[in-house]
Amino acid sequence: MIQVLDKTFETFITREELAKEVKSLATQLNEDYKNEEVVFIAVLNGSFMFASDLMKEVDLVSEITFIKMSSYHGTESTGRVDELIGLNNDLSGKHVVIVEDIIDSGLTMNKIISLLEMEDPKSVKICSLLYKPEAFRGDHKPDYIGFSIPNAFVVGYGLDYDEKGRNLDEIYQIREEGGIAFDKAELENKDKMLNVVLFGPPGAGKGTQSQRLVEKYGLIHLSTGDIFRKNIKGETELGILAKSYMDKGQLVPDRVTINLLKSEVLKYENPKGFIFDGFPRTNKQAEALDEFLEGINSSITQMISLDVEEGELKSRLANRAKESGRVDDANPEVIQKRINVYRAETAPVKEFYASQNKWMKIDGLGSIEDITERLFKAIDSLK
Ligand code: IMP
Ligand code: MG
Repeated sequence: MIQVLDKTFETFITREELAKEVKSLATQLNEDYKNEEVVFIAVLNGSFMFASDLMKEVDLVSEITFIKMSSYHGTESTGRVDELIGLNNDLSGKHVVIVEDIIDSGLTMNKIISLLEMEDPKSVKICSLLYKPEAFRGDHKPDYIGFSIPNAFVVGYGLDYDEKGRNLDEIYQIREEGGIAFDKAELENKDKMLNVVLFGPPGAGKGTQSQRLVEKYGLIHLSTGDIFRKNIKGETELGILAKSYMDKGQLVPDRVTINLLKSEVLKYENPKGFIFDGFPRTNKQAEALDEFLEGINSSITQMISLDVEEGELKSRLANRAKESGRVDDANPEVIQKRINVYRAETAPVKEFYASQNKWMKIDGLGSIEDITERLFKAIDSLK
Protein backbone atom coordinates (compact mmCIF):
# COMPACT_ATOMS: atom_id res chain seq x y z
CA MET A 1 0.00 0.00 0.00
CA ILE A 2 1.16 3.53 -0.70
CA GLN A 3 -0.02 7.00 0.14
CA VAL A 4 -0.32 9.81 -2.43
CA LEU A 5 -1.48 13.04 -0.80
CA ASP A 6 -4.64 12.15 1.11
CA LYS A 7 -5.39 8.87 -0.65
CA THR A 8 -4.26 5.29 -0.20
CA PHE A 9 -3.47 3.13 -3.20
CA GLU A 10 -2.73 -0.54 -3.75
CA THR A 11 -0.64 -2.19 -6.41
CA PHE A 12 -2.79 -2.94 -9.40
CA ILE A 13 -0.56 -3.67 -12.38
CA THR A 14 3.00 -4.72 -11.60
CA ARG A 15 6.18 -3.77 -13.36
CA GLU A 16 6.44 -7.22 -14.93
CA GLU A 17 2.89 -7.12 -16.23
CA LEU A 18 3.48 -3.67 -17.65
CA ALA A 19 6.69 -4.70 -19.36
CA LYS A 20 5.07 -7.75 -20.89
CA GLU A 21 2.07 -5.85 -22.18
CA VAL A 22 4.14 -2.95 -23.53
CA LYS A 23 6.23 -5.44 -25.43
CA SER A 24 3.20 -7.15 -26.86
CA LEU A 25 1.72 -3.81 -27.99
CA ALA A 26 5.00 -2.95 -29.70
CA THR A 27 5.04 -6.33 -31.42
CA GLN A 28 1.58 -5.66 -32.83
CA LEU A 29 2.61 -2.21 -34.02
CA ASN A 30 5.78 -3.60 -35.57
CA GLU A 31 3.69 -6.05 -37.54
CA ASP A 32 0.88 -3.71 -38.50
CA TYR A 33 3.16 -0.90 -39.68
CA LYS A 34 5.91 -2.96 -41.27
CA ASN A 35 7.44 -0.95 -44.13
CA GLU A 36 5.28 2.09 -43.33
CA GLU A 37 6.22 5.52 -42.14
CA VAL A 38 4.72 6.27 -38.75
CA VAL A 39 4.57 9.35 -36.57
CA PHE A 40 3.92 8.50 -32.94
CA ILE A 41 2.27 11.30 -31.04
CA ALA A 42 2.45 10.87 -27.29
CA VAL A 43 0.14 12.91 -25.13
CA LEU A 44 1.89 14.58 -22.19
CA ASN A 45 2.19 14.41 -19.27
CA GLY A 46 0.67 11.05 -18.51
CA SER A 47 2.10 9.03 -21.37
CA PHE A 48 5.77 9.85 -20.89
CA MET A 49 6.73 6.55 -19.24
CA PHE A 50 4.57 4.39 -21.43
CA ALA A 51 5.77 6.14 -24.60
CA SER A 52 9.38 5.77 -23.54
CA ASP A 53 9.09 2.04 -22.82
CA LEU A 54 6.96 1.42 -25.89
CA MET A 55 9.35 3.16 -28.26
CA LYS A 56 12.26 1.07 -27.03
CA GLU A 57 10.44 -1.99 -28.37
CA VAL A 58 9.29 -0.43 -31.62
CA ASP A 59 11.57 -1.15 -34.55
CA LEU A 60 9.90 0.88 -37.27
CA VAL A 61 11.27 3.82 -39.18
CA SER A 62 9.34 6.36 -37.15
CA GLU A 63 9.21 9.74 -35.54
CA ILE A 64 7.99 10.46 -32.07
CA THR A 65 6.69 13.78 -30.91
CA PHE A 66 4.93 14.97 -27.78
CA ILE A 67 1.85 17.09 -27.55
CA LYS A 68 0.08 18.51 -24.60
CA MET A 69 -3.55 19.03 -23.78
CA SER A 70 -5.02 20.52 -20.64
CA SER A 71 -4.09 18.52 -17.60
CA TYR A 72 -6.48 16.71 -15.41
CA HIS A 73 -7.10 17.63 -11.78
CA GLY A 74 -8.68 15.66 -9.01
CA THR A 75 -9.98 12.16 -9.23
CA GLU A 76 -12.71 12.62 -11.79
CA SER A 77 -12.42 13.45 -15.45
CA THR A 78 -13.76 16.91 -16.09
CA GLY A 79 -14.17 16.65 -19.81
CA ARG A 80 -12.65 20.14 -20.03
CA VAL A 81 -10.05 20.30 -22.78
CA ASP A 82 -7.72 23.11 -23.84
CA GLU A 83 -5.58 23.59 -26.89
CA LEU A 84 -3.14 21.17 -28.46
CA ILE A 85 0.46 22.41 -28.24
CA GLY A 86 3.80 21.11 -29.45
CA LEU A 87 2.99 19.60 -32.82
CA ASN A 88 5.65 20.66 -35.33
CA ASN A 89 5.80 17.56 -37.51
CA ASP A 90 4.37 17.35 -40.98
CA LEU A 91 1.69 14.68 -40.80
CA SER A 92 0.29 14.86 -44.29
CA GLY A 93 0.20 11.46 -45.93
CA LYS A 94 1.68 9.75 -42.87
CA HIS A 95 0.31 7.17 -40.49
CA VAL A 96 -0.24 8.58 -37.02
CA VAL A 97 -0.39 6.55 -33.84
CA ILE A 98 -1.48 8.47 -30.78
CA VAL A 99 0.12 7.15 -27.63
CA GLU A 100 -1.96 7.66 -24.49
CA ASP A 101 -1.62 6.48 -20.92
CA ILE A 102 -5.33 6.24 -20.29
CA ILE A 103 -8.63 6.73 -22.02
CA ASP A 104 -11.36 7.40 -19.56
CA SER A 105 -14.35 9.37 -20.87
CA GLY A 106 -12.61 9.60 -24.24
CA LEU A 107 -13.42 13.30 -24.52
CA THR A 108 -9.77 14.36 -24.57
CA MET A 109 -9.25 11.98 -27.46
CA ASN A 110 -12.21 13.40 -29.39
CA LYS A 111 -10.57 16.78 -29.30
CA ILE A 112 -7.09 15.49 -30.15
CA ILE A 113 -8.33 13.54 -33.15
CA SER A 114 -10.37 16.39 -34.53
CA LEU A 115 -7.33 18.65 -34.31
CA LEU A 116 -4.97 16.08 -35.84
CA GLU A 117 -7.27 15.35 -38.74
CA MET A 118 -6.81 18.89 -39.94
CA GLU A 119 -3.16 17.94 -40.63
CA ASP A 120 -4.29 15.46 -43.30
CA PRO A 121 -2.60 12.27 -42.05
CA LYS A 122 -2.97 9.03 -44.01
CA SER A 123 -4.48 7.31 -40.97
CA VAL A 124 -4.89 7.90 -37.24
CA LYS A 125 -4.89 5.09 -34.70
CA ILE A 126 -4.89 5.17 -30.92
CA CYS A 127 -2.66 3.10 -28.70
CA SER A 128 -3.65 3.44 -25.06
CA LEU A 129 -2.04 1.62 -22.17
CA LEU A 130 -5.23 1.77 -20.12
CA TYR A 131 -8.86 1.96 -21.12
CA LYS A 132 -11.93 2.29 -18.91
CA PRO A 133 -14.79 0.89 -20.99
CA GLU A 134 -17.41 1.72 -18.34
CA ALA A 135 -16.48 5.41 -18.34
CA PHE A 136 -16.07 5.75 -22.08
CA ARG A 137 -18.46 8.03 -23.98
CA GLY A 138 -16.19 9.25 -26.75
CA ASP A 139 -16.20 8.70 -30.50
CA HIS A 140 -12.86 6.92 -30.90
CA LYS A 141 -12.21 3.70 -29.07
CA PRO A 142 -8.53 2.83 -28.78
CA ASP A 143 -7.24 0.53 -31.52
CA TYR A 144 -4.48 -0.88 -29.33
CA ILE A 145 -5.28 -1.44 -25.67
CA GLY A 146 -2.84 -2.55 -22.99
CA PHE A 147 -5.34 -3.18 -20.22
CA SER A 148 -9.08 -2.63 -20.02
CA ILE A 149 -9.65 -1.64 -16.42
CA PRO A 150 -12.64 -1.01 -14.15
CA ASN A 151 -13.83 2.49 -13.51
CA ALA A 152 -11.62 3.21 -10.49
CA PHE A 153 -8.93 5.82 -10.12
CA VAL A 154 -5.34 4.76 -10.79
CA VAL A 155 -1.92 6.39 -10.39
CA GLY A 156 1.68 5.66 -11.30
CA TYR A 157 3.66 4.90 -14.42
CA GLY A 158 2.99 8.42 -15.65
CA LEU A 159 -0.53 8.79 -14.26
CA ASP A 160 -1.07 11.34 -11.54
CA TYR A 161 -3.26 12.15 -8.62
CA ASP A 162 -3.26 15.92 -8.52
CA GLU A 163 0.11 15.90 -10.31
CA LYS A 164 1.68 13.54 -7.77
CA GLY A 165 2.60 9.91 -8.25
CA ARG A 166 3.65 10.03 -11.91
CA ASN A 167 7.09 8.70 -11.01
CA LEU A 168 5.81 5.44 -9.49
CA ASP A 169 7.03 2.52 -11.56
CA GLU A 170 3.88 0.46 -11.17
CA ILE A 171 0.21 1.25 -11.48
CA TYR A 172 -1.76 1.58 -8.27
CA GLN A 173 -5.49 1.58 -7.72
CA ILE A 174 -7.23 3.78 -5.19
CA ARG A 175 -8.35 2.15 -2.01
CA GLU A 176 -11.84 3.23 -1.12
CA GLU A 177 -13.35 2.78 2.30
CA GLY A 178 -13.92 -0.91 2.85
CA GLY A 179 -11.14 -2.03 0.53
CA ILE A 180 -10.08 -1.74 -3.05
CA ALA A 181 -12.75 -0.92 -5.54
CA PHE A 182 -12.16 -3.94 -7.73
CA ASP A 183 -10.60 -7.27 -7.30
CA LYS A 184 -7.90 -7.69 -9.84
CA ALA A 185 -9.03 -11.19 -10.77
CA GLU A 186 -12.27 -9.65 -12.01
CA LEU A 187 -10.32 -7.61 -14.48
CA GLU A 188 -9.85 -10.36 -16.96
CA ASN A 189 -10.83 -13.97 -16.98
CA LYS A 190 -7.18 -14.62 -17.73
CA ASP A 191 -6.60 -15.86 -14.21
CA LYS A 192 -9.76 -17.88 -14.11
CA MET A 193 -9.06 -20.44 -16.80
CA LEU A 194 -6.83 -23.36 -16.03
CA ASN A 195 -5.18 -24.34 -19.27
CA VAL A 196 -2.83 -27.27 -19.08
CA VAL A 197 -0.78 -28.67 -21.90
CA LEU A 198 -0.31 -32.33 -21.10
CA PHE A 199 2.87 -33.36 -22.77
CA GLY A 200 4.79 -36.51 -23.40
CA PRO A 201 5.78 -39.03 -26.05
CA PRO A 202 3.23 -41.39 -27.61
CA GLY A 203 2.25 -43.93 -24.98
CA ALA A 204 3.06 -41.70 -22.01
CA GLY A 205 -0.52 -41.88 -20.76
CA LYS A 206 -1.79 -38.45 -21.78
CA GLY A 207 -5.25 -39.63 -22.80
CA THR A 208 -5.80 -41.78 -19.71
CA GLN A 209 -4.68 -39.06 -17.32
CA SER A 210 -6.63 -36.38 -19.14
CA GLN A 211 -9.89 -38.19 -18.34
CA ARG A 212 -9.06 -38.02 -14.65
CA LEU A 213 -8.21 -34.34 -14.82
CA VAL A 214 -11.49 -33.68 -16.60
CA GLU A 215 -13.40 -35.30 -13.73
CA LYS A 216 -11.49 -33.59 -10.96
CA TYR A 217 -11.20 -30.05 -12.34
CA GLY A 218 -14.12 -29.80 -14.76
CA LEU A 219 -11.81 -29.07 -17.65
CA ILE A 220 -12.42 -29.76 -21.30
CA HIS A 221 -10.17 -32.34 -22.86
CA LEU A 222 -9.01 -31.39 -26.32
CA SER A 223 -7.05 -34.04 -28.10
CA THR A 224 -6.29 -33.11 -31.66
CA GLY A 225 -5.45 -36.78 -32.31
CA ASP A 226 -8.90 -37.89 -31.09
CA ILE A 227 -10.58 -35.26 -33.24
CA PHE A 228 -8.62 -36.39 -36.27
CA ARG A 229 -9.47 -40.01 -35.57
CA LYS A 230 -13.15 -39.15 -35.27
CA ASN A 231 -12.94 -37.43 -38.64
CA ILE A 232 -11.11 -40.35 -40.18
CA LYS A 233 -13.85 -42.67 -38.98
CA GLY A 234 -16.51 -40.40 -40.40
CA GLU A 235 -14.48 -40.18 -43.61
CA THR A 236 -14.75 -36.40 -43.64
CA GLU A 237 -12.55 -34.30 -45.86
CA LEU A 238 -10.43 -33.38 -42.86
CA GLY A 239 -10.23 -37.05 -41.89
CA ILE A 240 -8.99 -38.17 -45.29
CA LEU A 241 -6.36 -35.48 -45.26
CA ALA A 242 -5.26 -36.28 -41.71
CA LYS A 243 -5.14 -40.01 -42.42
CA SER A 244 -2.63 -39.59 -45.20
CA TYR A 245 -0.17 -38.20 -42.66
CA MET A 246 -1.06 -40.17 -39.56
CA ASP A 247 -0.77 -43.55 -41.27
CA LYS A 248 2.87 -42.80 -41.89
CA GLY A 249 3.58 -41.55 -38.36
CA GLN A 250 3.91 -37.97 -39.61
CA LEU A 251 2.37 -34.84 -38.16
CA VAL A 252 -0.67 -33.34 -39.80
CA PRO A 253 0.44 -29.90 -41.15
CA ASP A 254 0.39 -27.06 -38.59
CA ARG A 255 -2.05 -24.93 -40.50
CA VAL A 256 -4.68 -27.68 -40.50
CA THR A 257 -4.19 -28.57 -36.84
CA ILE A 258 -4.17 -24.99 -35.60
CA ASN A 259 -7.40 -24.09 -37.35
CA LEU A 260 -9.05 -27.22 -36.06
CA LEU A 261 -8.01 -26.45 -32.51
CA LYS A 262 -9.23 -22.87 -32.62
CA SER A 263 -12.66 -23.87 -33.80
CA GLU A 264 -12.87 -26.52 -31.06
CA VAL A 265 -11.93 -24.05 -28.29
CA LEU A 266 -14.47 -21.51 -29.51
CA LYS A 267 -17.29 -24.04 -29.24
CA TYR A 268 -17.40 -23.66 -25.47
CA GLU A 269 -18.99 -20.83 -23.56
CA ASN A 270 -17.24 -19.83 -20.33
CA PRO A 271 -15.07 -22.91 -20.05
CA LYS A 272 -13.21 -23.53 -16.80
CA GLY A 273 -10.19 -24.40 -18.86
CA PHE A 274 -8.73 -26.92 -21.24
CA ILE A 275 -6.39 -29.83 -21.23
CA PHE A 276 -4.50 -29.75 -24.46
CA ASP A 277 -3.43 -33.27 -25.23
CA GLY A 278 -1.20 -33.82 -28.22
CA PHE A 279 -1.18 -30.12 -29.01
CA PRO A 280 0.91 -28.03 -29.45
CA ARG A 281 3.33 -30.42 -31.08
CA THR A 282 5.63 -27.92 -32.76
CA ASN A 283 6.94 -24.51 -31.78
CA LYS A 284 4.89 -22.98 -34.53
CA GLN A 285 1.74 -24.48 -33.05
CA ALA A 286 2.76 -23.26 -29.59
CA GLU A 287 3.20 -19.72 -30.86
CA ALA A 288 -0.13 -19.85 -32.66
CA LEU A 289 -1.82 -21.15 -29.51
CA ASP A 290 -0.36 -18.35 -27.35
CA GLU A 291 -1.49 -15.76 -29.82
CA PHE A 292 -4.95 -17.25 -30.11
CA LEU A 293 -5.45 -17.54 -26.33
CA GLU A 294 -4.28 -13.99 -25.81
CA GLY A 295 -6.94 -12.89 -28.25
CA ILE A 296 -9.61 -14.49 -26.08
CA ASN A 297 -8.07 -13.02 -22.94
CA SER A 298 -6.54 -16.23 -21.73
CA SER A 299 -3.22 -18.04 -21.63
CA ILE A 300 -1.57 -21.38 -20.98
CA THR A 301 -1.21 -21.96 -17.26
CA GLN A 302 1.34 -24.74 -17.43
CA MET A 303 2.83 -27.47 -19.53
CA ILE A 304 3.19 -30.72 -17.65
CA SER A 305 5.41 -33.42 -19.14
CA LEU A 306 4.85 -37.07 -18.38
CA ASP A 307 8.29 -38.55 -18.24
CA VAL A 308 8.53 -42.14 -19.50
CA GLU A 309 11.53 -43.94 -20.95
CA GLU A 310 11.49 -45.39 -24.43
CA GLY A 311 11.43 -49.13 -23.66
CA GLU A 312 8.35 -48.69 -21.48
CA LEU A 313 6.67 -46.59 -24.17
CA LYS A 314 7.07 -49.28 -26.80
CA SER A 315 5.62 -52.01 -24.64
CA ARG A 316 2.68 -49.77 -23.61
CA LEU A 317 1.94 -48.96 -27.25
CA ALA A 318 2.08 -52.62 -28.23
CA ASN A 319 -0.45 -53.40 -25.49
CA ARG A 320 -2.69 -50.53 -26.46
CA ALA A 321 -2.71 -51.77 -30.07
CA LYS A 322 -4.26 -55.05 -28.89
CA GLU A 323 -6.89 -53.32 -26.72
CA SER A 324 -7.90 -50.27 -28.70
CA GLY A 325 -7.23 -51.39 -32.22
CA ARG A 326 -5.43 -48.15 -33.06
CA VAL A 327 -3.58 -48.94 -36.29
CA ASP A 328 -0.82 -46.45 -35.61
CA ASP A 329 0.05 -48.39 -32.44
CA ALA A 330 0.33 -51.80 -34.07
CA ASN A 331 3.24 -51.29 -36.42
CA PRO A 332 6.69 -51.11 -34.72
CA GLU A 333 8.06 -49.05 -37.60
CA VAL A 334 5.30 -46.47 -37.25
CA ILE A 335 5.81 -46.44 -33.51
CA GLN A 336 9.51 -45.79 -33.92
CA LYS A 337 8.78 -43.07 -36.45
CA ARG A 338 6.35 -41.38 -34.03
CA ILE A 339 8.90 -41.50 -31.25
CA ASN A 340 11.53 -40.03 -33.58
CA VAL A 341 9.20 -37.26 -34.71
CA TYR A 342 8.44 -36.54 -31.08
CA ARG A 343 12.16 -36.22 -30.32
CA ALA A 344 12.90 -33.99 -33.29
CA GLU A 345 9.86 -31.72 -33.49
CA THR A 346 7.78 -32.04 -30.38
CA ALA A 347 10.30 -32.21 -27.56
CA PRO A 348 11.59 -28.65 -28.36
CA VAL A 349 8.11 -27.31 -27.52
CA LYS A 350 9.07 -27.97 -23.93
CA GLU A 351 11.69 -25.21 -24.22
CA PHE A 352 9.04 -22.84 -25.47
CA TYR A 353 7.11 -23.14 -22.22
CA ALA A 354 10.19 -23.52 -20.04
CA SER A 355 11.37 -20.12 -21.24
CA GLN A 356 8.07 -18.67 -19.99
CA ASN A 357 8.53 -20.48 -16.67
CA LYS A 358 5.57 -22.65 -17.45
CA TRP A 359 7.02 -26.11 -17.58
CA MET A 360 7.22 -28.99 -15.13
CA LYS A 361 7.93 -32.68 -15.32
CA ILE A 362 6.05 -35.51 -13.63
CA ASP A 363 7.33 -39.05 -13.28
CA GLY A 364 5.19 -41.05 -15.71
CA LEU A 365 6.14 -44.49 -14.39
CA GLY A 366 4.06 -46.43 -11.91
CA SER A 367 0.39 -47.23 -11.56
CA ILE A 368 -2.18 -45.06 -13.29
CA GLU A 369 -3.43 -43.96 -9.85
CA ASP A 370 0.03 -42.96 -8.68
CA ILE A 371 0.57 -40.83 -11.74
CA THR A 372 -2.86 -39.24 -11.33
CA GLU A 373 -2.00 -38.32 -7.74
CA ARG A 374 1.22 -36.68 -8.89
CA LEU A 375 -0.70 -34.70 -11.49
CA PHE A 376 -3.34 -33.54 -9.00
CA LYS A 377 -0.61 -32.37 -6.68
CA ALA A 378 1.15 -30.52 -9.49
CA ILE A 379 -2.04 -28.81 -10.65
CA ASP A 380 -3.12 -27.85 -7.13
CA SER A 381 0.23 -26.18 -6.72
CA LEU A 382 -0.56 -23.92 -9.68
CA LYS A 383 -3.64 -22.40 -8.11
P1 IMP B 1 -10.60 11.29 -20.78
O1 IMP B 1 -11.69 11.20 -19.76
O2 IMP B 1 -10.51 10.04 -21.59
O3 IMP B 1 -10.73 12.51 -21.62
O4 IMP B 1 -9.25 11.39 -19.98
C1 IMP B 1 -8.80 12.60 -19.50
C2 IMP B 1 -7.59 12.48 -18.67
O5 IMP B 1 -8.00 12.14 -17.38
C3 IMP B 1 -6.56 11.42 -18.98
O6 IMP B 1 -5.68 11.75 -20.00
C4 IMP B 1 -5.83 11.33 -17.67
O7 IMP B 1 -4.88 12.35 -17.58
C5 IMP B 1 -6.93 11.59 -16.70
N1 IMP B 1 -7.41 10.36 -16.02
C6 IMP B 1 -8.53 9.66 -16.28
N2 IMP B 1 -8.63 8.61 -15.45
C7 IMP B 1 -7.55 8.67 -14.64
C8 IMP B 1 -7.07 7.82 -13.59
O8 IMP B 1 -7.65 6.81 -13.18
N3 IMP B 1 -5.91 8.19 -13.02
C9 IMP B 1 -5.20 9.29 -13.41
N4 IMP B 1 -5.61 10.07 -14.39
C10 IMP B 1 -6.78 9.78 -15.01
MG1 MG C 1 -3.40 11.84 -20.26
